[in-house]
Amino acid sequence: MTPDELERIHQACRVLGAGGLVAFPTETVYGLGADATRDDGVERIFRVKRRPLRHPLIAHFASLAMMRDWVELPPMAVELGERFWPGPLTCVVRRSARLSPLVSGGLDTLAVRVPGHPLARALIAAFGSPLAAPSANRFGRVSPTSAEHVRTDLGSDVDFVLDGGACEVGVESTIVDCLSEPGRLLRRGSVTLDELCAATTRAIEDASDTASGAPGTLPAHYAPEARLVLVERDQFAEAVARIAAQGARVGALLPPGRPRPAQAVHVIELESDPILLARNLYRSLRELDAHCDVIVASLPPEVGVGAAVADRLRRAAAASH
Ligand code: TXA
Ligand code: MG
Repeated sequence: MTPDELERIHQACRVLGAGGLVAFPTETVYGLGADATRDDGVERIFRVKRRPLRHPLIAHFASLAMMRDWVELPPMAVELGERFWPGPLTCVVRRSARLSPLVSGGLDTLAVRVPGHPLARALIAAFGSPLAAPSANRFGRVSPTSAEHVRTDLGSDVDFVLDGGACEVGVESTIVDCLSEPGRLLRRGSVTLDELCAATTRAIEDASDTASGAPGTLPAHYAPEARLVLVERDQFAEAVARIAAQGARVGALLPPGRPRPAQAVHVIELESDPILLARNLYRSLRELDAHCDVIVASLPPEVGVGAAVADRLRRAAAASH
């Protein structure tokens, strides 16, 4: 850590110690953090985000060793944690009485993870207690992948923003329920089902598409303000022309290699590399939101983190109807 980073971590710890809210960078998206042991701080997260109290948060730890001091982990969480932490994976385990029950949103389970961003881990290690955090956006907006997105969404409602640059992964963590038999993939992220299955001797089934997925993984969560319309790649240009003819300002999230549609007021060409696609997704949606009423997009191939991008685009389109 540089002296400047240490000083900012110090300031952030003072804010957390006073029950305040600190937005911090993770490798996935920015989190809105409070001391996970304090009801007052955690309650403020829900108030600031305008998030229903029954919609649980994730508890973030500095390391697997720290986590094991605070919560009892089932064998699957230990296996997955040893393989993927620090990293973009969240495990659902049994709740610990040492954390505020508000973190669990009324459930008897708790979502836990060790984020991969070095500033996040340094912050949690310096603070000494886990941080409860959802994504640092207002409820219903797309998640923030830069400190500037956080400031735009939350303004003075957040007491301190720890700027750690742009997020590398760009979509929220993979969530796995480690208590059920078999384990269940509840939310897609950059750790894929195949990678999860290779890391554990136990079975994991895909529950990310069904109504039994993670509580509160609502379509509206991942939607921009503009209406998002999904079309087949080979019908992209016609769809843009048709919607523009109705008078809407159309933005294009253009599949790689397709011709630029002339009627679009703003075009962002998507990357063919799924890693770059995920990294830039939410920034692109925010940019299009600033210029357009309707965003036209096509689903990317569901390879690697491309499956998580497709999942977020499907939910965004479903929320638009
Ligand atoms: O990558 C991420 O996961 C980011 C960063 C900040 O860590 N966090 C994040 O939090 O995306 P967010 O806003 O999606 O909220 C946490 C999600 C909830 O929507 C819920 O689906 C799931 O985690 N969750 C939390 N506790 C749970 C539990 N006990 N059982 C099942 N799902 C749970
Ligand atoms: Mg969120």
